[in-house]
Order: sequence, then C-alpha cells, then structure tokens
Amino acid sequence: MTAVRPPPWRATVLTLFPDAFPGPLGLSLAGRALERGDWGLETVDIRDFSLDRHRTVDDAPLGGGAGMVMRPDVVDAALESVAGRPGPLLYLSPRGRLLNQALARELAAGPGIRLLCGRYEGVDQRVLEARAVEEVSVGDYVLSGGEMAALVLLDTVVRLLPGVMGNEESAAEESFESGLLEYPLYTRPADWQGHKVPEVLLSGHHAHIRQWRRERAEELTKARRPDLWARYIEGTADPAKAGDENGT
Ligand code: ADE
Repeated sequence: MTAVRPPPWRATVLTLFPDAFPGPLGLSLAGRALERGDWGLETVDIRDFSLDRHRTVDDAPLGGGAGMVMRPDVVDAALESVAGRPGPLLYLSPRGRLLNQALARELAAGPGIRLLCGRYEGVDQRVLEARAVEEVSVGDYVLSGGEMAALVLLDTVVRLLPGVMGNEESAAEESFESGLLEYPLYTRPADWQGHKVPEVLLSGHHAHIRQWRRERAEELTKARRPDLWARYIEGTADPAKAGDENGT
C-alpha cells in the first residue's frame, strides 16, 4: 500500500511585489524545506487584477488626506482568485492582532495561510469587511508595506512545521515557548580573552545546568519583560494554566 502524504502546509501571498518572496525564506532551513516541498509558497500579483490598461490598483482617499488607498474592486478580484487556497485570510496591518508564538503555533497547525500585503496607506475597508479578512500585526511600529511583515509571520510559522527545523528540541527551549525569555548561550572557547563561561556549563551535571538555565531565564524575563513575567507567574501559580504561554 502506498502511504498517502497530506498536502504540505501552503502559503499564498497576495502582493504588489511578488519578487519580495521567498526572500530570506529561500535560505537555510526554511529554504531547503521549501525546495523539498515540505511547505509551499505561491505569490499572486495584485496588479494582475487591475481593471484598466494603466494597471491602476489605488486611488486617493475619500474625505481627503495623504497617500493612496488600494481599491476594493481590484483587491476583491485578487482575493476571489485565491478562494480555493487553504487557510485563513490574513491582512498584515499595524491595527491587527499582535503576532506571538501562540498565534504562530495556531497557524502552523492549520493547512496554510493566505496573506494580503497592503501598500500605500492601506486597503479600502469595505473589501476587508466583505471578505471577513482578519488583521495581523507584527509589532507596534509602521512598515512601508505588508511584505516584510508577511516574511516575519511566515518565518515564525514555517520553522514550526514538521521537518523544517533540524533539531526539534531547540524549538521547545527557545524564548516564549515556556513563557520565559531564553537563557544566555555559550560555546567554545571556554575562556575567550579572559571571559570565562559559567562553570556549571562545563560540569556535565545536567540537572544543575537545567536549574541554572531556568534561573537565568527567570532573571532575564523579570528584568526585561515584566509583562511576560506577570503572565508566567500567574500561569505557574494556577495549575489549570500551567504551560499556557504568552497568548493573547
Ligand atoms: N504593515 C505596516 N506595518 C505593519 C505592522 N507593524 N505589522 C503588520 N503589517 C504592517
């Protein structure tokens, strides 16, 4: 009997700049996984859906103001063309739900995603509502377009897909997976210009090393991210919430 492989996780990106993809996702582990077919990436050029010979995709904001707005009819036609592709339809926007590790895991567990990248001032509100588009932000700052945000989102998700990261264990140890920032890392030489690595890491005593790392992770989180620390304390105090990391 031949094994039936499920279709790979698939990203569909609607953009005015398809050349921005795969960009850095074509490199290293994600790039090799893409070549192997462990995940798929398709770009759709929104400009192909313009309705005039000048290939216009934008117009001035009604009510006045700076910049241009992406037209609802053009964006709608582009979205219609990907109606059959798997996964939620997400628009990258600083107004959206903040990306975190929990959202990345949620998206990695699904069949794929469809990403709408805006340019100019943004996309006409009506098409976002008519198509029930969900908005996702990669942070509280403004990028010049959705492409770099889409690359960030894709990177966080793709590295969680089975087979993409060589060492599955390292993913579990990282910042945020436990609700804590990651402990400091060291490699050889053990003495670099007189700066020595912490003795415990050379001891070979795994329980001590684990404890040391947890203490450093807690210290760092407390000092740098009191918001994460508060949630971590809450989670560990309540057994029902243990293991629930910095979700929304
Ligand atoms: N587009 C512009 N800024 C953005 C941000 N911070 N997150 C997602 N998409 C964006």
